[in-house]
Amino acid sequence: MGKEKKKANKAAKPEPLVFVPGKGSGISLEGATELTVPEGRPHPLADVLRVLEAEIIGQERAIKAIVRALMRAHAGFRDPNRPIAVLFFAGPTGVGKTETVRALAKALHGDLRKMIKIDCSEYAEPHAISRLVGAPPGYIGSDKPPILSKEAVGSEPNRIILFDEIEKAHFRLHNLLLQIMDEGRLTLAMRDKGDDGVVDMTNCIIVLTSNVGATAIEQTIMDNRIGFRRGLEGDVHRADQQIYEAAKRAFQRSFSPEFRNRITEFIVFRPLSRENLSRILQKLLMQSANRFAQMGFGLQVTEAAREWLIEKGVNIQLGVRPLVKTVEKYVETPLAEYYAWGLIEPGDLIICDLGEGGELTFRRLPHEVSIVPEDEAEEQEELAEETEEDDDGGEMVRPEAEVEEERRRKTVAGEE
Ligand SMILES: Nc1ncnc2c1ncn2[C@@H]1O[C@H](COP(=O)(O)OP(=O)(O)O)[C@@H](O)[C@H]1O
Ligand SMILES: [Mg+2]
Repeated sequence: MGKEKKKANKAAKPEPLVFVPGKGSGISLEGATELTVPEGRPHPLADVLRVLEAEIIGQERAIKAIVRALMRAHAGFRDPNRPIAVLFFAGPTGVGKTETVRALAKALHGDLRKMIKIDCSEYAEPHAISRLVGAPPGYIGSDKPPILSKEAVGSEPNRIILFDEIEKAHFRLHNLLLQIMDEGRLTLAMRDKGDDGVVDMTNCIIVLTSNVGATAIEQTIMDNRIGFRRGLEGDVHRADQQIYEAAKRAFQRSFSPEFRNRITEFIVFRPLSRENLSRILQKLLMQSANRFAQMGFGLQVTEAAREWLIEKGVNIQLGVRPLVKTVEKYVETPLAEYYAWGLIEPGDLIICDLGEGGELTFRRLPHEVSIVPEDEAEEQEELAEETEEDDDGGEMVRPEAEVEEERRRKTVAGEE
């Protein structure tokens, strides 16, 4: 026993890192086994991987890179005085960057409220930063607790802090980020008496998202004439490597070395293929149907109607957003209208199909759906509440999906 303990101590000592086996090092390779990752065994982060793979379509490489980065950090290959990891998600709009962070929060904590999401577009003005770090007494906003307060950040491990679309933030936010990334802490402008006002962030996973590289990626795809429509045949690996490198170069051009050096992992999200988008359509329709079901209606969309929606909404350059808009315009809006006119009633099953005239049609089958009793509906509402985002503005309880949708709608509107 005693001998083994001694051995362990010796092994844990960092020196001598480099040695020639045998020659006076006191270590012989006899009896050493070679390490290889066993096949067929469950992945150590299987739970995280499962959630990400189930929710995020067509971003397998990005997901693998995220999981690798987390494994490295958890194995101790990190600076204990910095955040657990700083992940940078780059790539075009509407391909799942923000959604992946949300899925990660769900996978790690089972609760989206554990994630702090900072929409950088709201911090384009320098004074807005005081919402994050507080304002000194006497200044506007000094009555409000900062978003990144000690209480909000807490000490739970793997706390996710998302800075979404960082290219939209004022430079002051970048400076603040530098401090967080470099020192693993943040100094508040507002502090209580006897408090140092320093928020420890070494328990956090910081995720930054940005559309940096979007143009470069698109250009690379065009140069390569990669037929995303036909699926990525040919030298998939090489093309993918080029996409990564193009995005990385754009990143290097847009961010200072001191900023870049603090990133643990640079992760590129790829444009989605038509096939990816058609799977996402399925997901979006499910979301619509779920919302509709809460009002007591059933919704079914035929294969032909789905094909039609895909034709209308697929846009490889703009990712998922046009598809979202298509579902809103051609499925949700008509349903809302029929509802407002009193043409449909709870308990109806609505069937959305492709009509003879090449437009979508809606038919109702009365009394097809059993209505959820009130107490169960309340339960569902509570569930929805649990998934609500950290949002300081609204008094109304709004399901997370709804908040997200509104944001999406705004973005789509802005794009046109
Ligand atoms: N790869 C994807 N897999 C599944 N859903 C996706 C994917 N990309 C986008 N979506 C859907 O589209 C919406 C917008 O995507 P988002 O993650 O906000 O895009 P961005 O890359 O611009 O951050 C998400 O809420 C999600 O429902
Ligand atoms: Mg986003």
